Amino acid sequence: MPAPVWLLKSLHLLLLSLHFVAVQLLLGGLVVAFVWSLLGHLRKDAQCRAASGEVAGYLPVIVTYVVNLGVPPLLFTQVLYGVALYTSTILIGAYWISVIFLLIAMYYMLYAITRRGASGRAWWFLALASLLIVLGIAKIYATTMTLMLRPEVWQAMYRASAHGTLAPPHDPTLLPRWTFMVCAALTVAGAALVVLSKRRILSAERSDFYAARGGLLALLGAPLWIAAGLWVWHTQPAAVTHLLAGHALYPAVGLAWLVCAALLGVFGLLAVVRKGQLPVLLAVGLALIAILADATAVIFRDGIRDVTLIGKGFNLWGQPLEMNLQVLAIFGVLLVLGLAVLGWLIAVMARAQPATEVPHE
Ligand code: HEM
Repeated sequence: MPAPVWLLKSLHLLLLSLHFVAVQLLLGGLVVAFVWSLLGHLRKDAQCRAASGEVAGYLPVIVTYVVNLGVPPLLFTQVLYGVALYTSTILIGAYWISVIFLLIAMYYMLYAITRRGASGRAWWFLALASLLIVLGIAKIYATTMTLMLRPEVWQAMYRASAHGTLAPPHDPTLLPRWTFMVCAALTVAGAALVVLSKRRILSAERSDFYAARGGLLALLGAPLWIAAGLWVWHTQPAAVTHLLAGHALYPAVGLAWLVCAALLGVFGLLAVVRKGQLPVLLAVGLALIAILADATAVIFRDGIRDVTLIGKGFNLWGQPLEMNLQVLAIFGVLLVLGLAVLGWLIAVMARAQPATEVPHE
């Protein structure tokens, strides 16, 4: 290890939490954009159409965050769990590599949506296609991250085919993991809509629209997210749940996630009731709780991985250390600068006036 495991892990968990937030904004944003654009099209509802166009306009930007916040944790995962991750990605190499092309196709469609929207043409089918692609990419990631925890199936898979085209044998933890991310996306996107409703440039009507619907999404998404979390827990092997339950850290982290997810539902209900009148502080609180919910989920997920791998003879904490301070220092400086720029970009975006809101001369 080029740095102590605790340091690499802390950076990994921080950046992966941000990646998860971005993935959920993309996935949930696509659900919202698709549903609203379809309803707007079928019912000739101008409010729905305009709102769907605005949400779709954010999505290409969000993709850049998904990718850029995905690369650093990928590097950390490779350093920390290289043996397991490389094997897993090679075994399903065809699907793994296809992510690049799927991502490019989806990104292209998001721009096509903006173009069609600007000229008043329907684009709900492009949103649906993009949504299906993102769901597919999430499935590939979940498959990779679960296959890396199953060294017992690697050899048989490779013997059966070395072309990377085989799907792994059935794993009861895979579907709950994927469902967990989808339910998280609904909840977090709901919270994001409530935050969006606080933009000062919005009309009172649009602000109400975002707050009420975003609140409803968070209110409905939160219990689903909690149910998915319990499903993930119950499909883990008994040895894993036993070790996690007796651990000094993970029961508290799991409880913190549960509280955060429940709070998101409660705040969602407040947004449904108060609509555009919801105090800014509550909207900011909602955003922070959403990030905290993801951070705790990411820490717990990491616990599942470590405990599973320890049970299969791979103990991360026992790796020899060979410090590379120079690289670490450069990474640290760039990370701080990068996060500062990111904060600045978000602040600029929050203040910017979308073209559709500029009054005509
Ligand atoms: C639309 C694009 C993407 C989607 C929908 C997506 C979705 C996901 C999902 C669902 C997981 C969790 C899988 C699980 O544990 O069950 C995940 C993990 C991860 N993703 Fe993404 N992802 C996307 C793009 C990317 C990109 C472009 C990168 C990096 C280049 C990336 C890097 C990672 C890493 C490093 C992890 C977890 C690593 C670990 O377990 O430590 N993702 N992603």
